[in-house]
Amino acid sequence: MSSPRRPLVAGNWKMNKTGPDARAYCERLVALVAADGVTAEVAICPPFTALESVAFALAGTPILTAAQAVHEAESGAHTGEVSATMIAATGALGTLVGHSERRAAGETDAQVAARVRAALDHGLFVIMCVGESLELRDANETLGWLSSQVAAALAHVQTDDVERLAIAYEPIWAIGTGRTATQEQAQEACAHVRAEASKVVDGAAVRILYGGSVTPANAAELMAQPDVDGALVGGASLDPESFAAIIRATA
Ligand code: PGA
Repeated sequence: MSSPRRPLVAGNWKMNKTGPDARAYCERLVALVAADGVTAEVAICPPFTALESVAFALAGTPILTAAQAVHEAESGAHTGEVSATMIAATGALGTLVGHSERRAAGETDAQVAARVRAALDHGLFVIMCVGESLELRDANETLGWLSSQVAAALAHVQTDDVERLAIAYEPIWAIGTGRTATQEQAQEACAHVRAEASKVVDGAAVRILYGGSVTPANAAELMAQPDVDGALVGGASLDPESFAAIIRATA
């Protein structure tokens, strides 16, 4: 059965690269992706300080630019935060919301829900992140946890938001650890996330990504799972050659 879901591969740079680093990277990645004739949708998520440089460098290319986080307010006394309007004004088209590193720093389910809504309302696409800790996995509580995270995050989402919404399943124990989820674990969790999301949006249309120590060596087998529609890549996205190899693996 052919899937209507176009694969999406997003590179989350986290707190890495300055504007000049980012421009050199984008030049190289654009060349690699053009040479490969890539069919997947590709996005780069630089830190706020490089967002405008990346959006400028990628304008007119098939590669999209997205922020790593967004605040739900339009403007005001929120030191260190950035609004969806500000992100859109850089030329970026989307944002991550609810990454586990943000949640660990205090971002609540209610904030994630409000931030997803604010980003969508400003025309941005959203990659909303969920995932369980090792404690929850060991206690066999992964699926229940994912249900509650997805339900909470999609509290203000409507059916017609589906085209600009993707959900990344990122087990916390797999992030930056080199310990990737098995294909079976990724498939089970992504299928479960899709089932939960389908209470709100069309489950056959929403893209579910896997994230957590994705590399050129394991990307193809993860992407081959029926409910894995792409990847959110941290460490391996910092080098354009390895990120391009992961993009190629989704073909
Ligand atoms: P990683 O990070 O690929 O370095 O594990 C993934 C993420 O946190 O999005």
